[in-house]
Amino acid sequence: HRLAVIVVAAGSGVRLGAGAPKAFVPLGGSSILEHALHAVAGMAQPPRVIVVVPADRCAETQRVVERVIGTGEVIAGGPTRQASVAAGLRLIGDADIVLVHDAARALTPSALFDRVADAVAASGNGAVPGVPVADTIKRTSAGGAIVATVDRAELSAVQTPQGFPAGQLLAAYAAAEREVTDDAQLIADAGHPVAIVEGDPLAFKITTAWDLRRAEDLLRTTAL
Ligand code: CTP
Ligand code: MG
Repeated sequence: HRLAVIVVAAGSGVRLGAGAPKAFVPLGGSSILEHALHAVAGMAQPPRVIVVVPADRCAETQRVVERVIGTGEVIAGGPTRQASVAAGLRLIGDADIVLVHDAARALTPSALFDRVADAVAASGNGAVPGVPVADTIKRTSAGGAIVATVDRAELSAVQTPQGFPAGQLLAAYAAAEREVTDDAQLIADAGHPVAIVEGDPLAFKITTAWDLRRAEDLLRTTAL
């Protein structure tokens, strides 16, 4: 198979509030994006790499990609994650499997990328990492009253990288009629099945200052 990995890193990181676009915020001596790129560099089969960043970060990102991965393409993102993925999709070339990954999931192990890519290759369909939901989840009304308890056994918290056959993903983006928060939603809208593969707690998304602190602690105290 010909693999491409799109790393989306063009968000502004409002919830982190670190005064810089989130992917460029320091983490353990490098940046959040650099950690994510190291994970891609550790994949069993080297993919074509596409990194989507804010327009004014393209030049510096190209240098980081060359240092960490060797070769890769860098392109400016858009105002939403979906627009940024769409920008990356223009550069996948002849890849037949595409993985889309949030740079903000900085500590994602290389093995999770391999697991997702292998699942897509084996099934010919999309594969998305998921982990069990720990909290009891309530459905609530607009007024804040509890309407129902959702059976936790039916739920998965999904992560990235999310992998798809390239043709499915390109067609789903071309046909997209709504704004979504992950790629699997567009694939489901297009009527394709998507399987959950076992996720990894280290693939958590750095969203808030607490998450960044957790990532710093993990880097300091664990051999990752
Ligand atoms: N992303 C992107 N382009 C955007 C918005 C998001 O490439 N216009 C990327 C982010 O860089 C991140 C991933 O999508 O790696 C997940 O988004 P999120 O965690 O929401 O990051 P931000 O949008 O940067 O954070 P916030 O929503 O707090 O501003
Ligand atoms: Mg966001």
